Amino acid sequence: MKKFLFQAKPLITWFQLIFILLLITDVKGLKNVKLEVTPEVVEQGQEAILRCSYELEDEPLYSLKFYRGEHEFYRYSPNERPQTKIFNFTWIEVDASRSSESQVTIRKVDFILKGNFSCEVTTNPSYTTMTSTKSLTVVSVPRGKPVIASERKRYEPGETLRANCSIPLSRPAARIFFTLNDDAVNEIFVKEGEASREGDSRQSIDLSMPLKSVHYSLSGELKLRCNAKIADMYDEWSELRLGSSRQREPVPASVRSSSSSNRSLEISDLRKLWIIIMFLIHSR
Ligand SMILES: *[C@@H]1O[C@H](CO)[C@@H](O)[C@H](O)[C@H]1NC(C)=O
Ligand SMILES: *[C@@H]1O[C@H](CO)[C@@H](O)[C@H](O)[C@H]1NC(C)=O
Ligand SMILES: *[C@@H]1O[C@H](CO)[C@@H](O)[C@H](O)[C@H]1NC(C)=O
Ligand SMILES: *[C@@H]1O[C@H](CO)[C@@H](O)[C@H](O)[C@H]1NC(C)=O
Repeated sequence: MKKFLFQAKPLITWFQLIFILLLITDVKGLKNVKLEVTPEVVEQGQEAILRCSYELEDEPLYSLKFYRGEHEFYRYSPNERPQTKIFNFTWIEVDASRSSESQVTIRKVDFILKGNFSCEVTTNPSYTTMTSTKSLTVVSVPRGKPVIASERKRYEPGETLRANCSIPLSRPAARIFFTLNDDAVNEIFVKEGEASREGDSRQSIDLSMPLKSVHYSLSGELKLRCNAKIADMYDEWSELRLGSSRQREPVPASVRSSSSSNRSLEISDLRKLWIIIMFLIHSR
């Protein structure tokens, strides 16, 4: 009996042990799973493309799944028919004709999609799975320039300059600020505009600033400019030319804005010409 016990085969052979160790340590089947979102900052209503790249070594692909948060919305499984499966959610619109075994096109991206997207690659037969996650940012950037308005065209020193400036609502919100003759306007004279109240479609600021003679240019001009910036996505301005009625060269109040960069070149060229003419007249 004793002899029989000692001769009993071990539970696993060396060969089996090595094989199991290889299975545990060898995840060579899959590597470099990487999700790429283009663009990472997408404008509301535009499309975004998710590309999932991966390297298979000695095992074939079993499935590739795309998730928004916890929700799988697209799956490619080469061994199933049909190979692609689009899950019908109301909050995401996949363009099937422009989606394939490694990429998904999302149409009309809305704010609800802002967040983490992932792709999950699985190989067979080991069912090795790797995931890559990227976040998507959705923004809404207004078209056009800020709209600037002043209560009056002429203000004398001692009077209060009242003006406002607005742009359509944006996400994220814009930073709006005034400059007067190229100097920053002190924030104590500025407050959030009436138009920024809830339910309104604009964001705005109101200016109420007592004027002193130092605020005027030598020619008695007040150049009020409203600037609006949204990160590096939006940077526009509009300008009002105001002044005192005692101004030497009364300028008609006019609006300019950053769109007319060519026209403003022309204006400054005209002004140079004007200075030259004045110089010639005075030096006679
Ligand atoms: C999604 O809806 C379309 C038609 O509305 C249908 O053809 C398709 O089979 C549905 N997909 C799934 C995964 O239910
Ligand atoms: C997205 O993922 C990051 C880390 O990967 C996490 O900190 C963040 O909370 C996630 N965002 C959402 C909306 O789940
Ligand atoms: C902005 O200013 C103009 C001129 O004073 C005024 O007519 C208009 O009502 C103001 N708009 C808002 C929203 O305050
Ligand atoms: C401004 O001028 C440049 C070249 O002079 C031209 O290419 C461009 O289209 C012009 N822009 C506008 C808004 O007119």
